[in-house]
Amino acid sequence: MGTKTLNQDTIEIIKSTVPVLAEHGEAITTRFYQMLFSNHPELLHIFNHANQKKGKQPQALANSIYAAAQYIDNLEAILPVVKQIAHKHRSLNIKPEHYPIVGEHLLLAIKDVLGEAATDDIIHAWGEAYGVIADVFISVEKEMYDEAEQAKGGWKEFRHFIVSKKEKESEVITSFYLTPQDGKEIASFLPGQYISIKAVIEGEEYTHIRQYSLSDHPNQPYYRISVKREDGSQNQPAGIVSQFLHDTVREGDILEVTAPAGDFVLQTEPELPIVLISGGVGQTPLLSMLKTLAQKEPNRVVTYIHAAINGSLQAFDQEVREAVEGNDNYNYYLCLESPTDEDKQANKHQQEGYIDQEWLSTVILDHDAEFYVCGPTPFMQASYQALVNLGVAKEQIHYEFFGPKGVIEN
Ligand SMILES: Cc1cc2nc3c(=O)[nH]c(=O)nc-3n(C[C@H](O)[C@H](O)[C@H](O)COP(=O)(O)OP(=O)(O)OC[C@H]3O[C@@H](n4cnc5c(N)ncnc54)[C@H](O)[C@@H]3O)c2cc1C
Ligand code: HEM
Repeated sequence: MGTKTLNQDTIEIIKSTVPVLAEHGEAITTRFYQMLFSNHPELLHIFNHANQKKGKQPQALANSIYAAAQYIDNLEAILPVVKQIAHKHRSLNIKPEHYPIVGEHLLLAIKDVLGEAATDDIIHAWGEAYGVIADVFISVEKEMYDEAEQAKGGWKEFRHFIVSKKEKESEVITSFYLTPQDGKEIASFLPGQYISIKAVIEGEEYTHIRQYSLSDHPNQPYYRISVKREDGSQNQPAGIVSQFLHDTVREGDILEVTAPAGDFVLQTEPELPIVLISGGVGQTPLLSMLKTLAQKEPNRVVTYIHAAINGSLQAFDQEVREAVEGNDNYNYYLCLESPTDEDKQANKHQQEGYIDQEWLSTVILDHDAEFYVCGPTPFMQASYQALVNLGVAKEQIHYEFFGPKGVIEN
């Protein structure tokens, strides 16, 4: 892995300074992004401005550089993490030539924040270590770009898709069916994967790229994404891209899309039961998994658990019912946090309030299963904890954050 090697002195400097850098982590990353965007404003076309403002992505990037540095003499150990990030990078179209820019600004920020304490030896060692880490990312990403381009129906970078259908799924969620403008085949995907959309919005200085999970099963002539409108509140602005898709994009419009990516995918080996647990719009990747399983694995025991606030905010009820219908191996449980009078009359839900451990224990009969969880962060943390308390092995719980990867164990 990688072509460069570091000498022992460099490795020791890196390992002994990781804690110092981590301690000043926030200051260094804040300074890093200030300088990066001031010297390279074109990168604001790629980075998510809301994540920057909320501080999530800065932490993610810096923490992973320190984590990688800790394993500088054994980078193989962090390959799964590198791959997860590389999927995101590939779907954002991050290029090898971006890496030296990030490296240069990281060193500038370290110097700036640590001042005298950042000796030439330290800066030199970090420069070398960053080069080694960057090489690992670049080579993993090269493989991913090649794979995406060479796949049947695949492509490189962004491809133009027509919004062939726009369909309201609930008060807050709308689906967009995307067919390629060139009329050619599109790459298949693994259920659970996502695409990125580059939004070019009139009046906006920069483009905005966002990920959306594919919500239908693969091998269709279109991709379907289902987007929740982020309305914002008094304290926070409305979501830029979700609002644009809901309010401005019409059937017939063109969107720029990258090829499917992501490692939150359905694993069908070993032959264990599968439990899919979603909250709100976190349903999208799990719906793709459910529909795929229903077609291909009718003998598998599959449990689909979905939580919504109430029936009018809930999407895909009918689609889920159709997928599980007529198969006793498939079960669907609906949990409504605050059912309306209408919901109470319809009586489609099995649980009122939150999904909790006690209720989960009544619907999950076999703990030796593969669990997939997606939804708002507190929802995922609570579900994860409940599953662990019920005795589920952590390796059998898979989850996807709809933003920079966060911490699942709270
Ligand atoms: C792998 C993956 C899959 C995803 N799949 C889906 C999917 O299937 N469906 C779906 O709807 N979404 C999905 N998402 C989320 C999606 O990518 C977007 O993050 C989402 O649509 C919001 O984007 P936006 O541009 O509308 O909001 P942004 O403009 O990015 O804002 C995001 C949030 O931050 C708030 N905010 C903005 N600025 C500030 C500020 N200064 N201070 C405080 N808060 C602020 C906004 O109000 C909003 O709630 C997925 C994300 C990932 C990473
Ligand atoms: C070794 C160097 C790098 C490391 C360790 C790294 C690490 C990360 C991590 C951990 C994330 C969050 C992933 C997630 O969970 O979603 C991320 C996202 C991202 N990275 Fe990198 N990265 C590196 C280099 C780069 C470079 C060179 C660029 C391009 C200039 C870049 C641009 C991005 C962007 C745009 C995101 C998406 C996050 C957002 O906008 O909110 N990264 N990176």
